Amino acid sequence: MQELLLHCRPGFEGEAAAEMQELSAIKGFAGYAVTKEGSALVRFVCPGEGDAERLMHKLDFRQLIFVRQWALGNWLEVPVEDRIAPIITACSKGPIASCMWLETADTNDGKAMAALTKKLSKPLESALTKTRFVRPTKTEMPRLHLCFESGTRVFVGWSWAHNAAPWPMGIPRLKVPRDAPSRSTLKLEEAWHHFIPRDDWDARLAPGMTAVDLGAAPGGWTWQMVNRHMKVIAIDNGPMAQSLMDSGQVEHIQADGYLYKPNKTVHWMVCDIVDKPARSSSLLARWVGRGWCREAIVNFKLPMKRRYQEVIQCMEHVQDALDEAGIKATVSCKQLYSDREEVTCHVRILHAGSFKIQTLS
Ligand SMILES: C[S@@+](CC[C@H](N)C(=O)[O-])C[C@H]1O[C@@H](n2cnc3c(N)ncnc32)[C@H](O)[C@@H]1O
Repeated sequence: MQELLLHCRPGFEGEAAAEMQELSAIKGFAGYAVTKEGSALVRFVCPGEGDAERLMHKLDFRQLIFVRQWALGNWLEVPVEDRIAPIITACSKGPIASCMWLETADTNDGKAMAALTKKLSKPLESALTKTRFVRPTKTEMPRLHLCFESGTRVFVGWSWAHNAAPWPMGIPRLKVPRDAPSRSTLKLEEAWHHFIPRDDWDARLAPGMTAVDLGAAPGGWTWQMVNRHMKVIAIDNGPMAQSLMDSGQVEHIQADGYLYKPNKTVHWMVCDIVDKPARSSSLLARWVGRGWCREAIVNFKLPMKRRYQEVIQCMEHVQDALDEAGIKATVSCKQLYSDREEVTCHVRILHAGSFKIQTLS
């Protein structure tokens, strides 16, 4: 019987389990989650034969908030003397894959296994290509995930590129740009990677677009938008990095982000103010409900318990404001790799083709 292996941020296993439990029930599947606090992995078991696979294909990975990556497969015990042979046997029972990803949990124990996975990488790859269980040229085929929980226990599973994260363990390899004023810059870059298909970047993150950055200082998020040649209004009482001000693309306004209203509609509103999620979602609801921006990215900080329920409430709040205004939009949330005790919410107004910059009264 196959099961789903879910990767999440360590400490958020309960949230990943809660959302899978709820979504599987909505889709009509019986299943239960097995969690271990701090393990960064969740097992989701569906006792019905073939149900785990059906559930995986019925769910939209992008809808999952706390799950970074997933795979469908089985656990395998492997002897230290020869780990490769049993893995190859297990692979013979699954689909042919286009690539192999060696994974661990995103924990200190997982990191301690880096030497082992490095050592196994080449021999595994060569055995899998020789047996043709991995055929690197056929990119439309599933990806093979080999997730080592320990030196003797490995999950052998598969994911499908159109319905999973594009990176092993759901962790993107992004580097802080040398001239960005803060590490937070990666949060916005990762959000764009997650929420905007690469083919849409030129149209949706286009030079000359206008953006408002609420809680902008010192300017990590503003840097990303300036880097794409947008014009940014940065709202913060704190100082912005001089290099950004020198770009000529940034107007810095020392004001309260909650009270600020743009003179004209803008393409983007982004907000990284540290506050209660109810306040951040109200701010987002106001901006999108009143049509002040076409797309928005706002962080919801989550220091409380019942974090999954809190995020759902925030999303409902935003959706209600959109419904009330008769605005069609997508509302989604993700706990990105760069997100700590927080999730990133993205809203995109859908009748964007007709979007024009308008003066607001
Ligand atoms: C986490 S930092 C933002 C970091 C920024 N995104 C970056 O990449 O450099 C939060 C910022 O929000 C600002 N802030 C807090 N409350 C605010 C408010 N009511 N209005 C505007 N800015 C606020 C703080 O001054 C602080 O600079």
